Amino acid sequence: MRVGILTGGGDCPGLNPAIRGATLRLIRDGHTPIGIQHGWRGLVEGLTVPLSVERVDEIIREGGTILGTSRTNPFKQEGDLQRLLDNYRALQLDALIAIGGEDTLGVANRLHKEHGLPIVGVPKTMDNDLSGTDFTFGFDSAVSVAVEAMDRLRDTAKSHARVIVLEVMGRHAGWVALYAGIGGGADWILIPEVPIDLNEMCDYLRQLYASGKRYALVVVSEGVELPFEHDGVPIATDDFGHPVLRERAVGARIAHKIEEMTGFETRYAVIGHIQRGGPPTVFDRVLATRLALKAAELVHERRFGLVAALRGTEIVAVPLEEVVRAPKLVPREFYEQARQIFQRIQYQPHPEGSRAP
Ligand code: F6P
Repeated sequence: MRVGILTGGGDCPGLNPAIRGATLRLIRDGHTPIGIQHGWRGLVEGLTVPLSVERVDEIIREGGTILGTSRTNPFKQEGDLQRLLDNYRALQLDALIAIGGEDTLGVANRLHKEHGLPIVGVPKTMDNDLSGTDFTFGFDSAVSVAVEAMDRLRDTAKSHARVIVLEVMGRHAGWVALYAGIGGGADWILIPEVPIDLNEMCDYLRQLYASGKRYALVVVSEGVELPFEHDGVPIATDDFGHPVLRERAVGARIAHKIEEMTGFETRYAVIGHIQRGGPPTVFDRVLATRLALKAAELVHERRFGLVAALRGTEIVAVPLEEVVRAPKLVPREFYEQARQIFQRIQYQPHPEGSRAP
């Protein structure tokens, strides 16, 4: 079989290990992998690159995607869908492996259901918000970067006796903020799933300062609803209608509010796309490889309309529609569990003094 492989949506660490895993397994089974460039745009425009053992051999440690990616929605522009279907035939493809998040796999689902294309999906996203799979690759790498940022921010926040707000990505789900907050020892975590109570947070920050810890770290997810007026600035959207959330600058605005309400000097940092680059963690390398091997196996068995997914420690096949139905959000109990750690009761200053000089 001639099997097209594409990566779509926002890139994340683990895409190259996934391309590698699928390529190696397809070749092992006697198939021909063909790289489709720039996500669905590559199929609309007929952009391909050869994939070989040599090409993918060393990409296990590389961030990004050697195939390129895009947020192209072939159902949006008149004529794109027909061009995609024509190119699929012209390239003499027998199957497709689509590696992506909710948008890319949503397109895969429609192409399979409405146009009969034989497609298998591989779930990825640093947001970790795909249903049907326990984790997506890209998430562990992104969170590791965010925790490193927290460690660094702690040093400077403590030295200056400041509050520092770290804004992280995650769109509609707070997984990145929650894990970064727990892993980085935040003093407060704000996620889209839980309405913000500024008074409660600022009261707690005042308590912290009063009890001797005269600095604090707050993590905020870019997708939170702010409990104060929006400035009315129009926010750009992508091909799938998602707002470009960084333009909302929630980290900056929360930081200003904290300073206004508490009088504590406050700064903010936005790590943005830094979370999406760099080498994948071992967890992401292994997960991406295992998912891609499974996807290639499903293609070999001609089982289409499925996605390779992680359930517990097993890699299983789940229907495409299950993965794209609704985003996987942080359960309230998980947030409340984290609160037991970040909203500490009876803070006792360290005997050596946590007071700033
Ligand atoms: O979906 C992954 C993600 O990184 C989100 O967390 C973020 O909101 C979005 O992509 C940013 O997209 P772009 O790279 O197109 O600005």
